Amino acid sequence: MSHLSERPEKPAVGVSMPHESAFQHVTGAALYTDDLVYRTKDVLHAYPVQVMQAHGRITALRTGPALAVPGVVRVLTGADVPGVNDAGMKHDEPLFPDEVMFHGHAVAWVLGETLEAARLGAAAVEVEVEELPSLVTVEDAIAAESFHGAQPVMATGDVDAGFADSAHVFTGEFRFSGQEHFYLETHAALAQIDENGQVFIQSSTQHPSETQEIVAHVLGVPSHEVTVQCLRMGGGFGGKEMQPHGFAAVAALGAKLTGRPVRFRFNRTQDLTMSGKRHGFHATWKIGFDSEGRIQALEATLTADGGWSLDLSEPVLARALCHIDNTYWIPNARVAGRIAKTNTVSNTAFRGFGGPQGMLVIEDILGRCAPRLGLDPMELRERNFYRPGQGQTTPYGQPVTQAERISTVWQQVKENAGLAERRREIAAFNAAHPNTKRALAITGVKFGISFNLTAFNQGGALVLIYKDGSVLINHGGTEMGQGLHTKMLQVAATTLGIPLHKVRLAPTRTDKVPNTSATAASSGADLNGGAIKNACEQLRERLLQVAATRLGANPSDVRITEGVARALGGDEELDWDDLVRTAYFQRVQLSAAGYYRTEGLHWDAKTFRGSPFKYFALGAAATEVEVDGFTGAYRIRRVDIVHDVGDSLSPMIDIGQVEGGFVQGAGWLTLEDLRWDTGDGPNRGRLLTQAASTYKLPSFSEMPEEFNVTLLENATEEGAVYGSKAVGEPPLMLAFSVREALRQAAAAFGPSGTGVELASPATPEAVFWAIQQARRGGAAGNGHAAGGAADGSAVNGALDGSTVNGGVRAVAEALHGA
Ligand code: MTE
Ligand code: MOS
Repeated sequence: MSHLSERPEKPAVGVSMPHESAFQHVTGAALYTDDLVYRTKDVLHAYPVQVMQAHGRITALRTGPALAVPGVVRVLTGADVPGVNDAGMKHDEPLFPDEVMFHGHAVAWVLGETLEAARLGAAAVEVEVEELPSLVTVEDAIAAESFHGAQPVMATGDVDAGFADSAHVFTGEFRFSGQEHFYLETHAALAQIDENGQVFIQSSTQHPSETQEIVAHVLGVPSHEVTVQCLRMGGGFGGKEMQPHGFAAVAALGAKLTGRPVRFRFNRTQDLTMSGKRHGFHATWKIGFDSEGRIQALEATLTADGGWSLDLSEPVLARALCHIDNTYWIPNARVAGRIAKTNTVSNTAFRGFGGPQGMLVIEDILGRCAPRLGLDPMELRERNFYRPGQGQTTPYGQPVTQAERISTVWQQVKENAGLAERRREIAAFNAAHPNTKRALAITGVKFGISFNLTAFNQGGALVLIYKDGSVLINHGGTEMGQGLHTKMLQVAATTLGIPLHKVRLAPTRTDKVPNTSATAASSGADLNGGAIKNACEQLRERLLQVAATRLGANPSDVRITEGVARALGGDEELDWDDLVRTAYFQRVQLSAAGYYRTEGLHWDAKTFRGSPFKYFALGAAATEVEVDGFTGAYRIRRVDIVHDVGDSLSPMIDIGQVEGGFVQGAGWLTLEDLRWDTGDGPNRGRLLTQAASTYKLPSFSEMPEEFNVTLLENATEEGAVYGSKAVGEPPLMLAFSVREALRQAAAAFGPSGTGVELASPATPEAVFWAIQQARRGGAAGNGHAAGGAADGSAVNGALDGSTVNGGVRAVAEALHGA
């Protein structure tokens, strides 16, 4: 068997090709879970009974009035659950709860002949709730010491000595927002019962095996009674890694009890109010630098807003801690993590899985501290990069391999962006424009690839060759638009040595490949690609034997390329279809199960040490923004990215992932503003941003005016499938460059050397406040403070929306000053 990273002649990997379903996507032929409803007879519609209260005990639940609604067939409550009444892996997530834990919590579900009947039935269910005190914000939870789950501490070196050796020590606080996934396709499932009472569930899930497991628990049946299929998702972004399970279980339970197919699909507001989001965080920190600006010590406490149940909050927090170093060497560190338990939806995986949150903390620290150190932020970042050949490890003890690439992508992006010259232009522009400022910032990314939990790093595949030479592949990964299936087709065609059109891919199903991991952690191609390659290698070995006999050669001298087998040095050709037919008649097995596990990983969650990652994905971005001094409105003028995907399996797909990830990150950091009602009125705990009208997503108008994405060349990743690297999540974090550019542009309204604090998301309003800070001489503590806000308070003030009057006053001041 060949080495994992080695490519044969004329491989199908590395070829730029459109997404395998691109044509179906744009013509509307692509089927999503809920499209199947219209092809299924006698479907019942499930509708949730949501209680609009942040926290309370249910004292009465009357379903009778719902059953009187025409078309209502049944109301599902906790009493109907034959197995475990729980939707999660942590058993802290009752599927039908006795206690309302967040505003919008579903406590029962109504099945109706039509969606409208189910909706009216849900409205008729009577729920009485005894109100309990609620914690809506992460600050509330910290004050009340309301935490759940593990409280890990990541420590390295000697922090006290590090601070003692520091020429400068700064402290700060930072509260930043989460993010709504806003996948186009909301949560959906369709459950059917077969003749033996077994359940078949179509689900929009990134983790079919776990959906299967939870459904089996709820129904009280073994896993082999439950099959889950995912055709494709209209986006997942982590939001469908854990959250689909309970919803699918409701559909399955309904189907089991009625014997009829049951579907649900959330409307947008249900999806927004019932499903978890990216965790917002609160951070306090203390950092020490030597006289040259090199980090000596970091002490921090990160508190993730977990929401009402744990869901994936523990691994998300672990990844946040493991990424607080980003591309920087921190010799002495002590970082503590906590998960706030709040009365909001249960926050969950979202592209980057806590990594972005950890990295945002250090990037924010560097952005705030650079002016205080009297250093250019770019220079400060460069001085702190991991250096190759010095045995540096991350704060959790993993050696930083490829440290030189951190500088390589950084230097390339500087060149591509024409940095030196554009900085001069920007300086001249700013000098000439008192009310408009531009800035260019560069930030880098180092993102660990593999699941922290070693056991998840395995994948499986099933490859079938039919007598006519056509090939059908199955693997454990799911398709959510990221192009995994496209890459898997390319891997299979490459390994077998046949043209792409000979290979077809079947939808992901738990009865084809068992015990799969979530398609998550960007590792879909690594794990499933490894498994497909393994299955195809087994088949190729068998076929090479057959070909060798026909060609009168040694099997090791036979190559199959573009569907033709030839012996080295020989003229005779054997067509693939012929070869397969011959093999069949010789009774050679034409199917194979493939398996892959990532070697060399270890992780101790207790000591918070190990080498949990196979490798690091690296990248750098340079972003130029222009900010309006009157309103804080801004534009992204230009973005240059150099990103490392190893040797790309599919360049067009990878560039799409880099662009999409970057824009999604920019949305999180600059536009998308989740707000809850934190008042004490009847709507306490209500998500205020329940629709696209109030939750601003990036659209064409927010796209960078110039957007140049380059994949790092000659970047073969030894030990990964065909030398490639994972791509799905890391580019999201390149969007730190947008935030830092906005900070620098806002600061440019103050005297040279001004530093400002910037809320996250850096909405135009937040940028406006940062400009006001700059005009007053900068944030407190940076040497320019002149009655400015104290650490953190400006940030929080801008976030909680309570500064509207102040805003009017400040606008007047700004206009005056102009
Ligand atoms: N790209 C699209 N178009 N849609 C998605 O839902 N999810 C992201 C990323 N890219 C996503 C996406 C997330 S959160 C992850 S973990 C990876 O894709 C998962 O797929 P992969 O492991 O195949 O990269
Ligand atoms: Mo991605 S957040 O790991 O699904």
